[in-house]
Amino acid sequence: MVKTIGIIAIKGGVGKTTIAASLASDLANHYNQKVLLVDGNYSAPNLGLHMDIIEPSKTIHHVLDKRANIKSAIHKKFGVDVIPGSYVYSKSVNPLKLKDRLRKIKYDYDFVILDSSPSLNDEILSAILASDSLFVVTTPDYPTISCSIHAANLSLEKGKPIKGIIINKIRDPDYEISLKEIEESTNIPVVARIPDDKTAVKSLFTRIPVSIYNRNSPFSKEISRLNAALTGQKEKRSFLEKIFPKHFRKEQVNRQLLKESFYTSSFD
Ligand SMILES: Nc1ncnc2c1ncn2[C@@H]1O[C@H](COP(=O)(O)OP(=O)(O)OP(=O)(O)O)[C@@H](O)[C@H]1O
Ligand SMILES: [Mg+2]
Repeated sequence: MVKTIGIIAIKGGVGKTTIAASLASDLANHYNQKVLLVDGNYSAPNLGLHMDIIEPSKTIHHVLDKRANIKSAIHKKFGVDVIPGSYVYSKSVNPLKLKDRLRKIKYDYDFVILDSSPSLNDEILSAILASDSLFVVTTPDYPTISCSIHAANLSLEKGKPIKGIIINKIRDPDYEISLKEIEESTNIPVVARIPDDKTAVKSLFTRIPVSIYNRNSPFSKEISRLNAALTGQKEKRSFLEKIFPKHFRKEQVNRQLLKESFYTSSFD
């Protein structure tokens, strides 16, 4: 059964595209899943730059506008079927058509991953409405957390409660909001904690998704743990956890619960 997952945030630059590209390429290359990755950031579509697709001739803009058949807009990169966006599409398009356009092909896949726009308008609604499950990306600071609470409320209003929070770019926990505080203020479980990792910067520079650029980077390892839950598999334990088997982190427990909910819930 296909799972359509939206990666959202009402804040630019938190890492939505980096995470969407890495989740998709890790699922395809290391979990043997058939994956479609779609750029849902219509006014600043840069998923292509993360997936080494430069100046695509057919894009999600053409598909929304019925100027191209959705299959013709698929670009095969890093084992993933990618539908990028266009920086230069001259007409405005209706983002709310995304769900309908995806219907024609989504059943060909195990996962459809939607990158999204931080704009609080039809662009973010497009990803919210087209997804079965939503994850919000946040950085551990007050301004971003308040945006995440806003995103959670909006999704709930649309009948799509957020499945989990991905905390990204953790730099100095002494001066950042803790997992406990984030969970208490949002009422949503944290399912991944990704450190600030130079690999993400190098990966973007070379246009190779982080999970392919360096599978063993801290960024990639956390993405892989989340993907283990999304595919119903056991996550690999770290060296510390092997020595102290009772030493479970909260996000790990949350992933276990996510895995159980994923494999009892039904998808379109
Ligand atoms: N964990 C991380 N460590 C270090 N840099 C990161 C990390 N995650 C993302 N970045 C960097 O942060 C920048 C913004 O990332 P990205 O484009 O994925 O954000 P976004 O939320 O998609 O932004 P937008 O809302 O503009 O689409 C990029 O330069 C990326 O390489
Ligand atoms: Mg982005």
